Amino acid sequence: DPRYDFVVVSNRLPVDRVTDADGNSTWRRSPGGLVSAMAPVMANNDGAWVGWAGGAGEHLDPFDHDVFHLVPVELSAQEVERFYEGFSNATLWPLYHDVIAPPEFHRTWWNAYRNVNRRFAESAAATAAPRATVWIQDYQLQLVPRMLRQLRPDLTIGFFDHIPFPPLEIFAQLPWRRAVLEGLTGADLIGFQRPGDAQNFMRCVRRHMGITFRHGQAEIGPEVTSATFAVPDPAVDPEKPATDTPEDMSAAQGSWNLKVAAYPISIDVDAIREMAAKPETRQRAQEIRQELGDPETVFLGVDRLDYTKGIRHRIKAYGELLEDGKLRVGQDVMIQVASPSRERVESYKVLREQVEGMVGRLNGQFDTMEHTAIRYLHHGYPFAEMVALYLATDVMLVTSLRDGMNLVAKEFVAAKSDGTGRLVLSEFTGAAEQLKQAVLVNPHDIDTLKERILLAKNMPQDQARRRMRAMRRQVLTHDVNDWQDKFLTDLARMRDDDVDPR
Ligand code: G6P
Repeated sequence: DPRYDFVVVSNRLPVDRVTDADGNSTWRRSPGGLVSAMAPVMANNDGAWVGWAGGAGEHLDPFDHDVFHLVPVELSAQEVERFYEGFSNATLWPLYHDVIAPPEFHRTWWNAYRNVNRRFAESAAATAAPRATVWIQDYQLQLVPRMLRQLRPDLTIGFFDHIPFPPLEIFAQLPWRRAVLEGLTGADLIGFQRPGDAQNFMRCVRRHMGITFRHGQAEIGPEVTSATFAVPDPAVDPEKPATDTPEDMSAAQGSWNLKVAAYPISIDVDAIREMAAKPETRQRAQEIRQELGDPETVFLGVDRLDYTKGIRHRIKAYGELLEDGKLRVGQDVMIQVASPSRERVESYKVLREQVEGMVGRLNGQFDTMEHTAIRYLHHGYPFAEMVALYLATDVMLVTSLRDGMNLVAKEFVAAKSDGTGRLVLSEFTGAAEQLKQAVLVNPHDIDTLKERILLAKNMPQDQARRRMRAMRRQVLTHDVNDWQDKFLTDLARMRDDDVDPR
C-alpha cells in the first residue's frame, strides 16, 4: 500500500548482494555518501527506496534491510542490455561527458529506456503516501519526474543529476532531446553539481521547449504532446491497475513552478575521519609504505575504470617523467586502483585493453627485481583499506577529462587529518570549484600535467600544508548531510510556494 512519506528512486538499490561460502546470499548496505546520508532521513520519515537490485529477469518482493524499505524494480536481460548498458551507459554517459567516447543512438535502446523509466515511475507511484516527497537520482531516470507527476500530481518531486549536464550544442545531438527535457521538467526542483550544469540545462529547455527561466525558476504546464508521457489507460490495458489516487489530488493538474539550482554533492566526512583516526588504519598505512619499500613519494589514483577519468593521460605523464629521469622507480611509486565498471560496454573493454597495455609496457621498461613503477589493481577495496591508502599517499592524482563532482578528491582531503598530502586535480571536475587550493591542471596538456605532478611532489612543506588546511576547511564544513539538507529544504519550499492548492 502507498504509505511511505519519503521515497528515493535511483537506478541501483542501496544494498549489494553478498554470497557466503555456503552459497547463501544476503544483502549489505552499499558504501558511499549518498546511501549513508539517506539512512537517517529514511528512518525518521518512514522512507522507502525504489531501485534495481542488479540482476536480470529476477523477481524480488519488497523487503526491509536495516533502516531501508527496499522496493526492487525488475529488469529483463534485454533491458539490462538496452536500458542500462545501452541507453544509460553508451548513449547518455558519453554524451553528457563531452563526447569523450562517441555516443551511440539506437531507437531500440530509447524504447527500453522509456519503458524502464515508466516502470520506475509506477513503482514509486505505488509506494509513496499521499503528498509524499519523492527524490529521483541521476541520468538513468530522467523521464521519471514527468511520468510520476502524471500518475501522482499530489507528490513533491525532486531530481538530482549526479553527472554533468552537457552544453546545448552537444545535447542537441540526442534524437530524443525534447522528451528528455519534458521528463526532467516534471520535477519541482532539479539539482545539478555546478552552476554551469544548471545553465546548460536552462539553455536547452529554452531552445527545445521554448520555456524561459527567471532567477532559476520557470512555470511548467502539464500539456505534453509526445507519446512518451501518455499515461497508460487502465481501461485499455488491464495489466496495469489504476493508481489509487484520492479525488482531491487528481483535480490538481495545473501548472507548477520548477526551480533549477546547483547543489554540489559531498562525502560522509565523519565516517572517513573516524576511519582515519583508528590506530589499525594508521598501522595499515605504515605497512603499505613498508610493503612498497619505503619510497620517498607515493602517488595514488583511485577511479572506476572509466574513460572519463583520464587514467591514460595520467599514466602517460607519469611514464614520461620516468623516461625524463624526473621520477625514479624505487624512489617514487604510483598506485592505480581501477575498480571494474560496466565491463560489457564496448568502450570500457577498449579502455581496459589500453590502460593495461600502457601499464604493462611501462612496468616492463622500468621495473627492477625489487620495485615496480606502477602498481595496478583492477579490483575494488573495502572502505578501511581505501582510507589506509589515502593515509599512505603523498600525492593524489585526479585527472578526469570530465567529472560531475569526483568524490575521491574530497575523500582524500577528509582523510588527511595530519594536514599533509598534496592533491593534483583536473579543472574539469565539479570538485575543482570547491577545492581551489589544489594543484589544478588541464589533463589534456601532458607537459603541464607533468609539471604539476612535479610541482606537487616538490612543493615546500609549509605551502602544501597551507593549501591542505584550506581544502580541509571546505570539505569538513560541507559534507553530504549539508548537501541533502539544502536540497530537501529547497524542495519542501517549492511545495509551500506552489500556487495550486494540493
Ligand atoms: C556514477 C553515476 C552513478 C552510478 C555509478 C556507478 O557515479 O553517477 O549513477 O551508480 O557511477 O556506476 P554503475 O553503472 O555501476 O551503477
